[in-house]
Amino acid sequence: MDEYLKLLTIERGARRIRLRSPAKINLFLEPLRKRADGYHELVTVMQTIDLCDEVEVELCGSEIELECDRPGVPAGSGNLAWRAAEAFAAESGVELGVRIRLAKRIPVGAGLGGGSSNAAITLLGLNELHGLPLSRRRLVRVAASLGSDVAFFLYGGTALCTGRGERVKRLKPAPEFWVVLVMPPIGVSTGEVYGRLDLDLTDRHSVRRMLRSINRSDVQLLVRSLHNGLAGTVFAGYPSLRSLREEVVREGLPYPQLSGSGSTLYGVCCTEAEASETSLRLQHRLRSDVLVAVARNRLASAKENCHGDHRSQDHPEGGRQ
Ligand code: C5P
Repeated sequence: MDEYLKLLTIERGARRIRLRSPAKINLFLEPLRKRADGYHELVTVMQTIDLCDEVEVELCGSEIELECDRPGVPAGSGNLAWRAAEAFAAESGVELGVRIRLAKRIPVGAGLGGGSSNAAITLLGLNELHGLPLSRRRLVRVAASLGSDVAFFLYGGTALCTGRGERVKRLKPAPEFWVVLVMPPIGVSTGEVYGRLDLDLTDRHSVRRMLRSINRSDVQLLVRSLHNGLAGTVFAGYPSLRSLREEVVREGLPYPQLSGSGSTLYGVCCTEAEASETSLRLQHRLRSDVLVAVARNRLASAKENCHGDHRSQDHPEGGRQ
């Protein structure tokens, strides 16, 4: 089992595996051009964080069954994890029988990649339980057919992603930092944001400085290199999100950024103390339906992970709903 899968594994039996399914943030995102297939060519640096769903994959029965603890999340083929199981069976030729259970903590439609992560982790879990019928290359191909950022979650950590996001180059892990996540109850449609994007209006940023900051493990430089080329388009379409950004700036969240196409705003802090303090302040000042959480850009091993407990008051499930 590779290191990443080991980090994600909570429990492993012969026919059942329980895995963490991490969220991501985009440290850098620049759309470059529209392609003939309607997608946008982009450059993005993605980073997994330790805000995680749980995915349980159990081999049983003769169909794909999916259960989810969050109302409103589709339980059938509308769920990317369900489609991942279907695509895994088609590519590998194995006969399914699988029950997938999702325990959701990552908000939906928030730019944190929860659905894509669940799909990738389902692929990893199925491949593990079936004795690795698919090579890494074939898993990446299946992942890319499901969505642009699914392949990234087969690797996790820090990665430079190009193409429409599905070409993943692993990077040296970014220096350790904490993020304060501000998650309003606004679902943003990624397709709609890309549809309104006017590439003539945006100044191109180079990813070079971000890569340098990662290479040098320089958090200060990383913070100065954060960038999201979709932000202008998102804020133009969602004025309430723009106001929220102004509010969190006033409350001292450092350099708030959108993750992906939003709606999550995040700020990077160098220390856990700074992140916790900022998070508490925001929880008291923002509307009660805006979730605030602290996460780290490292996954501790599932065994030493007491994170959800000691920070439960900051967590979407343990904190304000
Ligand atoms: O690939 P995914 O399903 O996540 O993308 C959702 C939508 O976002 C696509 O249908 C497309 O309209 C838009 N998109 C894009 N360029 C990308 C990624 C997504 O235009 N690189």
